[in-house]
Amino acid sequence: MATRKNLVVDRTGLGHKVRYALAHPQRVPGHLRRAGRDRWLAFKHRDHVSYYRAVMASDTRRDPRAAVGSPTYGQWLALGRLQFDYLREHGLTPGSRVLDIGCGNLRAGWHLISYLEPGHYYGIDISPDILIAAKRTLTEHGLQAKLPHLTLTQDLTLDFLPEHHFDVVHAHSVFSHSPLTVIDECLAHVGRVLAPGGFFDFTFDRTTATEHQVLREDFYYRTETLVSLAARHGLHARFMDDWELRGHAQSKIRVTAAAPAPAHDAAAHR
Ligand SMILES: C[S@@+](CC[C@H](N)C(=O)[O-])C[C@H]1O[C@@H](n2cnc3c(N)ncnc32)[C@H](O)[C@@H]1O
Repeated sequence: MATRKNLVVDRTGLGHKVRYALAHPQRVPGHLRRAGRDRWLAFKHRDHVSYYRAVMASDTRRDPRAAVGSPTYGQWLALGRLQFDYLREHGLTPGSRVLDIGCGNLRAGWHLISYLEPGHYYGIDISPDILIAAKRTLTEHGLQAKLPHLTLTQDLTLDFLPEHHFDVVHAHSVFSHSPLTVIDECLAHVGRVLAPGGFFDFTFDRTTATEHQVLREDFYYRTETLVSLAARHGLHARFMDDWELRGHAQSKIRVTAAAPAPAHDAAAHR
């Protein structure tokens, strides 16, 4: 199933806003409430992480699952499964050591924790409220014996983590809520914690036109911007074409310390 992504629209344009409001009049009051709340939070919290933490506190108070983007339990389960299945099909093994950046309330995390060897899952997040919800998910799924790590963070320097430790670093629907400075910080430091042969998968909201953001909550980037940002930090970034077929609204990039070796060309050796 492929998602129909609108890759060319600039959501900040007046024309788009009017067209959208006419097509979805029932969403207008909710959007206006959100815009009002976000203005107030942005006024109180000038730096992005503090602002987004306040957004998460407000959203999590209402509903932790909706706060990570899944309004129903069924959607929450399905999106966690989607992330987990993709990782399993792309290199994850029970022995992998996984760093889940922006782990939320363990939508994918509980699958990972259940599958991985004890102590191999490390989730970090900027929101204390969602981490409390994460502990609840952990308890509800009876995963205490897996001893996962759940840690609050203020930045993505990853300085408290050991060198070359993680086979898999994962950030689903985190850079879609991040300005470029946050992504740059992460890419500047992720190479240090990646194990040899490890990879960093992240999703992003993609545009092929003008990069833009909505309410400082949703950020739209061109693939080239993120690929060249990774290259500036000595990392190789690859657009994951097959993720596009999974029906998710965001796109995915895989980052590795070095470019993967070219496929073995048997014909060349004949
Ligand atoms: C849409 S939720 C996705 C959660 C989880 N990855 C999932 O797919 O269920 C985004 C999460 O990223 C966290 N987050 C946002 N910016 C972050 C940052 N700079 N560092 C760490 N976590 C961040 C939010 O607090 C939130 O829990």
